[in-house]
Amino acid sequence: IETPKSLIMLFGATGDLAKRKLFPSLYNLYRKGKLSENFAIIGTARRDWSHEVFRDHVKDSVLTARKTAEKIDEFISHFYYQAHDVTDSESYIQLKKLADDLDQQYQLEGNRIFYLAMAPEYFGTISDHLKDDGLTNTNGFKRLVIEKPFGHDLESAKALNKQIRKSFSESEIYRIDHYLGKAMVQNIEVIRFANAIFEPLWNNRYISNIQITSSEMLGVEERARYYENSGALRDMVQNHMLQMVALLAMEPPINLTTNEIRSEKVRALRSLRAIEGEDVQKYFVRGQYGAGNIQGEKVVGYRDEVNVDPQSNTETYVAGKLMFDNFRWAGVPFYIRTGKRMATKSTKIVVQFKDIPMNLYYNKDQQLNPNLLVIHIQPEEGITLHLNAKKAGQNMETTPVQLSFASSSMEGINTPEAYEKLIYDCLHGDATNFTHWDEVALSWNFVDKISNVWEEKKMEFPNYEAGTMGPKAADELLEKDGFFWWPVENLEVDVC
Ligand code: BG6
Repeated sequence: IETPKSLIMLFGATGDLAKRKLFPSLYNLYRKGKLSENFAIIGTARRDWSHEVFRDHVKDSVLTARKTAEKIDEFISHFYYQAHDVTDSESYIQLKKLADDLDQQYQLEGNRIFYLAMAPEYFGTISDHLKDDGLTNTNGFKRLVIEKPFGHDLESAKALNKQIRKSFSESEIYRIDHYLGKAMVQNIEVIRFANAIFEPLWNNRYISNIQITSSEMLGVEERARYYENSGALRDMVQNHMLQMVALLAMEPPINLTTNEIRSEKVRALRSLRAIEGEDVQKYFVRGQYGAGNIQGEKVVGYRDEVNVDPQSNTETYVAGKLMFDNFRWAGVPFYIRTGKRMATKSTKIVVQFKDIPMNLYYNKDQQLNPNLLVIHIQPEEGITLHLNAKKAGQNMETTPVQLSFASSSMEGINTPEAYEKLIYDCLHGDATNFTHWDEVALSWNFVDKISNVWEEKKMEFPNYEAGTMGPKAADELLEKDGFFWWPVENLEVDVC
């Protein structure tokens, strides 16, 4: 399918996200012939750059992401730069002039994407100006792509939404959750709905619990100013973790249209049980890393990081037990955990099936291993199914075996980066892998009830050492239910 012609206006073009993710992704699309030849990109930011300086910057960022880049000069010739003050109408008027000119020059048919990759406090202002200063007034499509965080809590998210809705309709707003661009997150739906063997078991009769881990080895890096006010709950749970939960829990959609998929996710989130008041302590664990070792290197504790309050109460780790009040999932805990400075960088989903009624086999005094379906989201991508089989030898002793699929073993497929997919989808007007306002609102509603309780009580932090899998209380959360975290570091998929 041909990609529509379009002008992309990138706000925050000199920033980190543009450099690390957006330019390399755009380049990959270009190289694969997935951008129309009729495209132009205007980068804007405060700095006083020329088109040439900007083009060199884009080239640099592509060459940092990949060693060689054919047709790079052709690619960067589509980039233009305009110094911009986001609060000043005059700036937008100049921007409009450049946009209109490029529209003519490249015959872009008035199609415009406004991509906000910058500090969230300006999202509303920019969106107002885009309309008031005439930039959205075109014959083609107009779309607003907006990075997270979408608000700080439900109230601020509502205010932001109200403001951007003055200039863009819900169907024109593409709220990024980059986890939804990850190949194996998109695969959750296919594994569930394209296989006869899983869906019949995908409920509280056969599944005992589901565990989602998203651990990072990085610390807060240079983002402390943002992170201090956010913490892991807002930074990871409100968006990425709850999106994965929704995809695992939702009912089969009647078709694959954006609206049907989103409305099933919304329905799932609506049946997520609110955790509030005293239950927060029972169902959620928070942590903050102290000094420790990451891959043999000493690292400081969170409170000693640059720009972090030495008394900071911000959590860098969250574990939680989520319950759904619906027919499919009643009684099945969904455990989630995510944190910084953990032992490994890994995102995995472990679906643990219920035990068989009794063990008939040689090692009958021991419990048989439960069947597990593991979805490996990153760094490796794949699926493993853990079964029991007969051990070689005379007697009927069992041994755990694995059926594995590593997506890197699919020939000729080089999985595109999350951002590459998402930009492509947006160009094609497919909002399925972006979050609808209703999902954002329900997620904030869930998270606010927890953060309200947490804000009232200071914690004895730090409570986990950098380089470990988090505080002990997170293990106890599962032990109380007779489970344990499947050690993600041992659940590798064999990459052929
Ligand atoms: C971002 C968070 O949304 O996701 C970061 O703001 C986090 O704090 C990142 O590091 C993790 O993304 P990924 O793709 O590396 O798992």
